[in-house]
Amino acid sequence: MHPEAPSQQGDRLTTSTGVPVRDTDHSLKATPRGPTLLQDHHLREKITHFDHERIPERVVHARGAGAHGTFEAYGTASSVCRAAFLAAGVETPVFVRFSTVLGSRGSADTVRDTRGFATKFYTEEGTFDLVGNNIPVFFIQDGIKFPDVIHAGKPHPDREIPQAQSAHDTFWDFVSLHTEAQHHTIWNMSDRGIPRSYRTMEGFGVHTFRVVAEDGTTSLVKFHWKPDLGVHSLTWEEAQLLGGIDPDFHRRDLYDALAAGALPSWELGMQVMPDAEDQLFEGIDLLDPTKLVPEEWAPVQPVGRLTLERGPRNFFAEVEQVAFHVGHLVPGIDVTDDPLLQTRLFSYVDTQLTRLGGPNFNQLPINRPHAPVNDMLRDGFHQQDVHTGVAPYRPNSLDGGCPMHVGADGPALEDLATAIPAGHRVRANPISFEDHLTQPRMFWASLDPVEQDHVVEAYCFELGKCLDQTIVARQAAQLAVIDTELGARVAAGLGLPAPEPTEGDSAPEVVLSPALSQLGRRWP
Ligand code: HEM
Repeated sequence: MHPEAPSQQGDRLTTSTGVPVRDTDHSLKATPRGPTLLQDHHLREKITHFDHERIPERVVHARGAGAHGTFEAYGTASSVCRAAFLAAGVETPVFVRFSTVLGSRGSADTVRDTRGFATKFYTEEGTFDLVGNNIPVFFIQDGIKFPDVIHAGKPHPDREIPQAQSAHDTFWDFVSLHTEAQHHTIWNMSDRGIPRSYRTMEGFGVHTFRVVAEDGTTSLVKFHWKPDLGVHSLTWEEAQLLGGIDPDFHRRDLYDALAAGALPSWELGMQVMPDAEDQLFEGIDLLDPTKLVPEEWAPVQPVGRLTLERGPRNFFAEVEQVAFHVGHLVPGIDVTDDPLLQTRLFSYVDTQLTRLGGPNFNQLPINRPHAPVNDMLRDGFHQQDVHTGVAPYRPNSLDGGCPMHVGADGPALEDLATAIPAGHRVRANPISFEDHLTQPRMFWASLDPVEQDHVVEAYCFELGKCLDQTIVARQAAQLAVIDTELGARVAAGLGLPAPEPTEGDSAPEVVLSPALSQLGRRWP
């Protein structure tokens, strides 16, 4: 008998209304060889429920695996962030869901793709979701392009192939025309695109967040997960073979490790940058999600450790029904004006309204906050609560008590009075978003020769699957702008002449300044 499963009480089989059933193997018929009778309610209930068992898969990140665990804070973040779960020694239950981005729910684990790394912290101040990826930058700068990049990356609409691979015309058409995508893509083409295990992946919040200290001081931060097992990847041959031999390789690896007591763990770290008025750090626009801040410039400061402890008891109820949202923030952590993050704030609840069938999905067991909830949301499909009182509005003089008082006495969500730049409404990006190629060049330059070989082989393999040679040539030319040798090697691998970078296209010289600014200042 499970307290969380009211439909699994007692030791007798019943209908959903609790009426005992004697025979669930034979439908009611007019004579053993006669037609089935419509009056067989048990039959109809069983079949009807089955007919509606499936919910839509996620529009992205459909394929995933999840686990429960605990996050223990070191307290090192408290000088910059007042979130209670980051205070020294505080232990917070978490649920983590790892995923691929493009494949459908039944696709293979080891494909070349970005991986999702989403963490739900059930803190005493409410739920905080860190909805990140295993690559520190994203494809696009403005969320208005998200449907476009996903349409380009998903299987072609006519044949529904390929599944979760970047080896096709629309993907490379998009990447070669929208050059901001080159940085994320070169990470995809590196060994990072084929992780050995979820347990050996880094995770990144990608966007810059704003954190608030106890005294109200704000800082700009980027979140990082560092796996205690280190970062490891498959070779392309291993990934290909495993895709056939064991398409559940990552899922199995996670659950087997948990079952064996080899508990995977990650250290959470923060890069902390001053909340400067221009939101630039060493020339990098912190609102541009296609740019990272090199760790040499802003070291990742460890703030706590996540340990995964057990897999789901029921995959559907936990891994499928979990609903992450970048807007699930706790006091002390806020968003920035990153235009990708701003769009995400709208998208997650919107999609979950469809995927989880109405507005009450935060009442599902996996999504229920561990903090007390006292909201004024009422009714709607699948409402589980039997609310009391008559006055779901504040202030009121009928129900007594007023949750708004909590805000006055303790930490609460706050609207930071951050400055809004003066200017005119415009459909445009800041000029600082225009450099798309310095950072992919920096990434390429940071790889050792074996890693560079893998990147070249990956581009050749993936571009080799394109049918349209104009797209292939355009992408090879872009690679030559990132780095002449990279472009030439990929072109040679594809049997094309070495591309000539177009005048004016060249990326600026990569200058790695050791300046650490005033970092560490506030760290003990
Ligand atoms: C899932 C939208 C960018 C990480 C999703 C889902 C949507 C979505 C609609 C499905 C959610 C669900 O069904 O519950 C968007 C939009 C983006 C964007 C509109 C840009 C404007 C990003 C970025 C990251 C990211 C930059 C990483 C930093 C994830 C992850 C999931 C997800 C990890 C899976 C969550 C889970 O495991 O349930 N996204 N996304 N997304 N997204 Fe995004």
